[in-house]
Amino acid sequence: MTARDVLRNAARRGAHWVDLQYSLTIQGLHDVAPLARGELLDVGCGEKPYESIFRPFVTRYVGIEHEGSYTQTDASARGTGPDHYYDGTRLPFDDASFDTVLSVQVLEHTPSPQALLNEMARVLRPGGTLLLSAPFSFRLHEEPHDYFRYTPHGLRDMCARAELDVVRIDAQGGLWSLLAHKLNSFLAFRVAIVGGAMQAMGKLGHEARETRRPRYWTVPLVGPMVVGMSASARVLDRMLPDPSEALSFLLVARRPEA
Ligand SMILES: C[S@@+](CC[C@H](N)C(=O)[O-])C[C@H]1O[C@@H](n2cnc3c(N)ncnc32)[C@H](O)[C@@H]1O
Repeated sequence: MTARDVLRNAARRGAHWVDLQYSLTIQGLHDVAPLARGELLDVGCGEKPYESIFRPFVTRYVGIEHEGSYTQTDASARGTGPDHYYDGTRLPFDDASFDTVLSVQVLEHTPSPQALLNEMARVLRPGGTLLLSAPFSFRLHEEPHDYFRYTPHGLRDMCARAELDVVRIDAQGGLWSLLAHKLNSFLAFRVAIVGGAMQAMGKLGHEARETRRPRYWTVPLVGPMVVGMSASARVLDRMLPDPSEALSFLLVARRPEA
């Protein structure tokens, strides 16, 4: 590994920590990963960034993507991308093919979310587990394929329609991380314009390529601000919780035994 790789990895780890949406998602997935077992299907897998979290608990990790909305990136060209592509209507697997279905931040990207959830339920074996995270409040992204946001009540209703039993729904983040995430996104993408640098680090891989020139001269001011806000938000979410706000919700549901 070259010095450049070491620096790049350190910068990437720092960017992950500051990115509250990402780090809270990772934390939530670590919490639910022990519920995964057997053969796992990651629907809307992107570059399979969560495979290492689930690998210890499953026998097989399969990723599938929508051929119409997936953006080829450097990582997918290196072979860490999807194993299968489909047209977004019927998952190309038999009924009851998987023990676990994982889907992270995908349900907002289809105009027919109930149909996609029904498909996830169909390919689950009886007794199988669905682990799904969906945003409650997040900026517009991957436009124009950005259609919905979700509440726990909406997710429960959708699961009932898909004949899935909800086991639990966890909020990812609260009021303070939501506020900090929005301010940090504004500072990073609109003030410092470091979206391109983050894409070079392997983040925001699914979003349109940032072509504007970064304003690196703002970084000495913006950098400490975003770090300070991310740190304070983590503390304030614990000290002054507001359960009516979240960045996303993480759902665990089961397909009933036959
Ligand atoms: C925000 S990205 C998330 C990717 C990955 N799960 C992650 O967390 O890094 C949303 C992904 O959903 C995919 N997608 C959109 N509609 C889909 C569908 N009907 N079936 C499967 N994937 C879909 C998009 O191609 C995109 O890669």
